[in-house]
Amino acid sequence: MDYFAYKNQQLFAEDVALEEVAKQFGTPCYVYSKATIERHWHAFNNAAGKQPHLICYAVKANSNLAVLNVMAKLGSGFDIVSGGELQRVLKAGGDAKKVVFSGVGKTAEEIALGLQVGIKCFNVESRSELARINSVAASLGKTAPISIRVNPDVDAKTHPYISTGLKDNKFGVEREQAVEIYKYAASFANLNVVGIDCHIGSQLTDIAPFVDALDILLALIDELAEHGIKIQHLDVGGGLGVTYDNETPPHPDQYTQAIAQRLTGREDLMLIFEPGRAIMANAGVLLTKVEFLKQGAEKNFAIVDAAMNDLIRPSLYSAWQNIIPLNDALPREKALYDIVGPICETGDFLGKGRALAIAPDDYLAVRSAGAYGFVMASNYNSRPRVPEVLIDKDVVHLVRKRETIEQLFENEIIPNN
Ligand code: LLP
Repeated sequence: MDYFAYKNQQLFAEDVALEEVAKQFGTPCYVYSKATIERHWHAFNNAAGKQPHLICYAVKANSNLAVLNVMAKLGSGFDIVSGGELQRVLKAGGDAKKVVFSGVGKTAEEIALGLQVGIKCFNVESRSELARINSVAASLGKTAPISIRVNPDVDAKTHPYISTGLKDNKFGVEREQAVEIYKYAASFANLNVVGIDCHIGSQLTDIAPFVDALDILLALIDELAEHGIKIQHLDVGGGLGVTYDNETPPHPDQYTQAIAQRLTGREDLMLIFEPGRAIMANAGVLLTKVEFLKQGAEKNFAIVDAAMNDLIRPSLYSAWQNIIPLNDALPREKALYDIVGPICETGDFLGKGRALAIAPDDYLAVRSAGAYGFVMASNYNSRPRVPEVLIDKDVVHLVRKRETIEQLFENEIIPNN
């Protein structure tokens, strides 16, 4: 459930008409609903019940400081994948002790930063990374808490670009090698083995692969205990899907409950979740304006002011996101349109074959754009990145200004020759 809805045929975010936001800040523009973020976060947090647990929001989904601050105030933990994300979490008021650090390519500098601020755990993906973390920790006179990301080899049945738990993916270590690698980890003087983790993919709409992966990890935890390695936390990663169109993923509370129930009898094991999309996707929309309507030989095009550089998911993953008018009261005929941007690529579209009743200057909202939207934006075609707005009931906060053309040139140098 989210707080984007029509009232008198005007699309609102909470108590604010989005057409007002579009007029005030211009388009394109991302808009997030604070109440929706909070609702989704609580759905995860409440459903884990008595099992000790920590929700580590996956910062990569949306890393605006204001968004992170909403979650920091709820007491959230964070899953990060770079030094930059760590600095964002700290800047937004997040607690370093609740940060887990994922990713296959952590640099020595990023590891040092994590150790200096005292993060909860490094989610390690290879033998060589173990050695690197140990040597950085030794040079700082510290002990690094680590978890090994195990690749359970289950098919998440999602888009191949966002499936991560199969044998031919670059992520994690093989189940068959996991015990050896844990023993290797335990042999380092400056590493402290505290956890186990996995992440099998993103936009999963079925609970079965999650449970299969969990069972593999639970069996491994028992096997490790036989080798004297005690695991304190189990991090199940993120990946829960959302409804973009007609998908019916389990709700966060159903998913969390199903996982937590599997841990009956293991009440000393802390459960960590790393949701990104399930919290943020439907907490945000991208506002755009129709510039021109154009009749092609076989199709109608609505050329809008947002493009693939602002929201790349449709172009990159053939993702379907709903596109709806901000003002649904305009008396017009519906027609089928491809909603395309001004970028010089055929792949620059936000949606295809959409039935809409539109005219130039009308505003549209691309729904489910709160996750992997702004964070994946680029300056392709020298287009400044768009503003972000956070709605809190009837209050409108600008949480990122529109980038200026001058900012685009800021770091460029014309050689003097
Ligand atoms: N944990 C790890 C280690 C991850 O790699 C990811 C996402 C998450 C958690 C959060 O997954 P989520 O709950 O959001 O599914 N750009 C793509 C999605 C890439 C996901 C990468 N990893 C998209 O727009 O669909």
